[in-house]
Parts: sequence; structure tokens; C-alpha cells
Amino acid sequence: MQLRRIKGTQDILPSEVEIWQYVEQVIREEMAVFNYRECRTPIFEQTELFARGIGEDTDIVGKEMYTFLDRGKKSLTLKPEMTAPIMRAYLENNLGTLSPLTKIFYIAPLFRQENPQAGRLRQFHQFGAEVLGSDAPALDAEVILLALQIYKKIGIKDLNLVLNTVGDPESRTNYRKLLQDYIRPKLKRYCKDCQARFETNPLRILDCKVASCRELNAGAPRMSDSLTPAATEHFETVTKILKDSNATFSLNPYLVRGLDYYTHTVFEITSRHLGAQDAICGGGRYDLLAEQIGGNPTPAVGFASGIERLLMVMEAQELSAASGNALDVYLCALGDHAAGAVIPWTQRIRALGLRTDRDYLGRSMKAQMREANRQKAKIVLILGENELKEKEFSVKDMENSSQQLIPFTDIESFLIKFFNRRS
Ligand code: HAM
Repeated sequence: MQLRRIKGTQDILPSEVEIWQYVEQVIREEMAVFNYRECRTPIFEQTELFARGIGEDTDIVGKEMYTFLDRGKKSLTLKPEMTAPIMRAYLENNLGTLSPLTKIFYIAPLFRQENPQAGRLRQFHQFGAEVLGSDAPALDAEVILLALQIYKKIGIKDLNLVLNTVGDPESRTNYRKLLQDYIRPKLKRYCKDCQARFETNPLRILDCKVASCRELNAGAPRMSDSLTPAATEHFETVTKILKDSNATFSLNPYLVRGLDYYTHTVFEITSRHLGAQDAICGGGRYDLLAEQIGGNPTPAVGFASGIERLLMVMEAQELSAASGNALDVYLCALGDHAAGAVIPWTQRIRALGLRTDRDYLGRSMKAQMREANRQKAKIVLILGENELKEKEFSVKDMENSSQQLIPFTDIESFLIKFFNRRS
């Protein structure tokens, strides 16, 4: 039997890898512009990091992690997200002693044992940013603007930014009580998961996707009514900066997100091109995570964006061609002599830094031109017996189909001029 890949995983094939590289390049450029530096952490961690960081009672920890015992009977987990590992790395390597503020970004594969569907994979990739060491609301706004800037650079349109605050611990305690008072009389009508969350984590009931629970939640009290003055001020500063920066957003008083470490600002960016799994990005502030995993108090804020979902939106908005996965030059050779003569020419043109390829299969002129088209070559150089005799190339500009003869001696300067003009 032919073996197949594991359900919910994907091969990124040669025809697809260039768009990944293009997206990664834009991410790296914009992260540098905002002064974030890359951090890479191991693929697996102690299970406890996620249990304590994300929360025992969340879907991720409760049912989605790839957890296993190693030979030493230690419980390890393939990382399902990057925020807890980044915080662990920050604390363990004392990055806070080097600088009061640490701005980190990552691009990483992650693992969650979810039911695969469009936009929901078991191995997926995120890029994200985390700022550790400050509780300034300006940083909540900065990470949101950074995510938006990356999408803008890629050309993505029509995204929806939704914000809420889950307040500080005091606001949370007030709200938790109000929410439980609201839910208690109808608890039996909620789904089993919500009933189980009622005591341990009632805020997560607001995040339930079951239609009947959503209906029951419709009249629930709002976090905004339980906020302390400090929490209100924090959130108002964030929204003011976003408004002043011309970012459009809406408020959703019931947005709580599926991970327990959040305090103050939480946000999601969604796209209508994504169907049921419509979040392309999620994030927020997590001032208490450091202590939950045994470190010194370290306020922090960040976001993570799914790369597969980003690519789905790019495809729907026909942005995939922007990746530039095209050949610059394709050499067509006709006949044995020409086939030999193109070998050094291919090398010389590659030495100009142009993406160049040629026929290796002795195909007909028609088949070679078809190949040049398939590879989206911008220029085709044709070398037949005649051209060889006259020491020149027939040069075809594939954009407008114009053709001209250029002597061998001039071909390199012609190509340099042609590609400089285009870039
Ligand atoms: P998250 O909402 O769990 O947040 O994931 C962020 C994004 O990762 C989602 O909006 C989605 O685009 C993508 N994603 C999540 N699960 C999958 C999946 N199974 N398949 C494909 N894409 C997926 C976090 O992970 C937090 N660590 C975000 C954060 C950073 N908060 C503060 N800093």
C-alpha cells in the first residue's frame, strides 16, 4: 500500500513554495521596519508549559494537543502556539535584563489535533509578533497596526478588525460573578462543554460556537460594565491610537478568544473569504502569563496569523501572482549544435542574476515555447542553426510578442537594460 501524508497536513510543493517565500519575505521586511527580531524555539516543550500557559480548560489543552511520553516518561507536547514558548524563552534566557523592552517575531509550524477542514489543519503555520516587558497600551495598538501593515503590503483588502477588552483581574472577578448570575438559571439549556466551564471558566462560555448557546448568550452582561477605571483607560487609549492611525475596527463585547492568558485588549482579524474558520489573525495582551509559567511578572502583548489562511485569502483576491514565481529568461535551442551552444549562454545569463532555464529534453520549437509560457518567462532567446551561423539570438518579448535579432556580443547588455527598466 502506498503511504500517504497524515490527515490535516500538507505538502508545500515546488509550485507553491515561492508564494510562501514571498509572504515570508514581506513579513521579515515589515518586522524589521517595526524593529522586531526573530526568535526560534524548539518544536516540542514540556506539556506543563501549555497546560499552565494556555489553560487546562481550553479546547487546545483539553483535546487538541499532540502530547506523548518520551522514553524517560516525561510528558512532551508539539507546540500548538508560540506565545507560551516565546515567554518561556524570554524568561529562561533573561532577555529582560538585556533591554527593558523585547520585540520578537516568529514564523513557525504548529500542531493541533483538530478536525481538518478548509483553513483548519493539524500542522499549520503562523507568523506573529510578541512584545515583552511593557504594559503600555501603545504597544497593543502597535502590534495590531503591524499585522494590518503586513496584510496591506501583501495587498489584502476587506479585512475586519474586531476588538474587545477582557480587563484586569479585578474587572474579570466582577464580570465572572455577573456572568454566572446571568447563566445560572438557564445552565441546563447550555451544551455539555459550557456546563463544564460554568465553574472553572465561565468567560469561555461566550466563545461557544453551538447555536443554542449563542442564542442563550445574546442578553449576557458586557465586560465593559464591569471594568475598573484603569482597565477602561487602557482600552480607551488603545482604541484612540487605532482611530488616530486610521485603522477601522468594530467592538464585540463578547469576544474572549480561546486561550486563557489574555488580559485587557483582545482582537481578531477576519476575512469573508475564509468561510467557517474566518479568523486570519488573533491576539491580545497577556500580562499574567509570565507568572503562570513560574517567571517574574512581565506584561506582554502580541498577535499570531495563520499563513495557510492568509494564502487562502490571497488566492481568493487573486494576489498569488504577486509572488513573482516566473522565469526571467528561457533559452530555446533547435538542433544539436544549438543545444550544445546554449549551455555556456545559460551560465553567462545566470551569472547576471537573472532567473534562467533552458530545454533539456530536445523538444520541438512549439513544445519549448509552450514550456516558456508555462514558466511565465519574460524573455525567450531562440537559437537555431541560422542564428548560430549569424552569431545572434532571436529575442522574443513575451509580454507583447515582439521579436528582434540581437548579436551575441550585445545580448548581455540588452538583458541588463531590459530587466533594469522593468524593476
Ligand atoms: P489563535 O487564535 O489560536 O491564537 O491562532 C491564531 C491564528 O492561527 C488563527 O487566527 C488562525 O489564522 C491560525 N490557526 C489557528 N489554528 C489553526 C489551524 N488548526 N489551522 C490553520 N490555521 C490555524 C494564538 O495562537 C495566540 N498565540 C495568538 C497570540 C499571540 N496572542 C498573543 N500573542
